[in-house]
Amino acid sequence: MSLQGNWSYPTAIKFGAGRIRELPEACAAAGMKKPLLVTDKGLADLPITTATLDILETAGLGRGLFSDVDPNPNEMNLDAGVAAYKAGGHDGVIAFGGGSGLDLGKMVAFMAGQTRPVWDYEDIGDWWTRADADAIAPIIAVPTTAGTGSEVGRASVITNSETHVKKIIFHPKVLPAVVICDPELTVGMPKFITAGTGLDAFAHCVEAFSSPHYHPMSQGMALEGMRLVKDYLPRAYADGTDIEARAHMMSAAAMGATAFQKGLGAIHAMSHPIGAVFNTHHGTTNAVCMPAVLDFNAPAIADRFDTAAAYLGIDGGFDGFRAFVQDFNDQLGIPRRLSDLGVTEASIPTLVQGALIDPSCGGNPIKLTEDNLTTLFKTAL
Ligand SMILES: [Fe+2]
Repeated sequence: MSLQGNWSYPTAIKFGAGRIRELPEACAAAGMKKPLLVTDKGLADLPITTATLDILETAGLGRGLFSDVDPNPNEMNLDAGVAAYKAGGHDGVIAFGGGSGLDLGKMVAFMAGQTRPVWDYEDIGDWWTRADADAIAPIIAVPTTAGTGSEVGRASVITNSETHVKKIIFHPKVLPAVVICDPELTVGMPKFITAGTGLDAFAHCVEAFSSPHYHPMSQGMALEGMRLVKDYLPRAYADGTDIEARAHMMSAAAMGATAFQKGLGAIHAMSHPIGAVFNTHHGTTNAVCMPAVLDFNAPAIADRFDTAAAYLGIDGGFDGFRAFVQDFNDQLGIPRRLSDLGVTEASIPTLVQGALIDPSCGGNPIKLTEDNLTTLFKTAL
């Protein structure tokens, strides 16, 4: 089977090894002549970034780069990015990287033409209609990890540097016009990032699958996404150059993020405040939280995981799936406790308040309260 494809759902996706070379055509399709490539500090000097800038320069598209982006990007990174975009006379953004580069790149394109502060466009009700949609610059997304799925998302997570709260900024036009999914860009990921990002994709699928909302399309995608992670993440982890495994993980990441239109849940509601306060790796944090959340949600989700387990090739229904998740974490070097990530007992009241106001809270199959979240954090600690 050739792992190549041109997909138009949920947006235009050019999928396959080596397809980063088609970036100039993607720029033409998106109407860009002078793009700004936005990525994070860690990626700025890596060969994949330099090679991508070379492709742009050779095609006469310049080599505009903005990389002052923190691991949990904040509004100061955003202001600096918008300033660089305007100063350079750019006409579109190539959001390049893992979650931070993709999310901040999308926001630079979004905010370049807006007049209100970014927090006015938080994903609450119809706040997105406050934005001038015509002023949003075109976006091309190029993921270099396989986890966040932000390349197919209509939102970005930006951390408020004063309150340490992660806010989701949403607009339908923040969905990239073109995505290039080239698994060769992910081969250099260190093992712990391969595991953490891959388990973020897994958490997206598990939480979307668990969410009580009606969305059969998402349900199907979430189930197949779980299977791809189960079958291919151990291979990508063992051998980073296994392109077939890297390709399937890249698909699973895009599928997880498409599926979670159906909702996320307690894993992300816990993980967002933990990341904002302790700067932990998002996917790794999700993985640590998952066993406790599965136990907590069991009364509401056991039936559907009985069915899923059979498809995933796991014996024992929900209980088998629960046992698989712990083994999978152990096999991938994930710590067992939040305390291993530096989370403290004293922080739990703050984390509970953060979880209660997190938008993921509403997608959990069992209603989250101050009491049960406190117990969940203590269990996971
Ligand atoms: Fe996530």
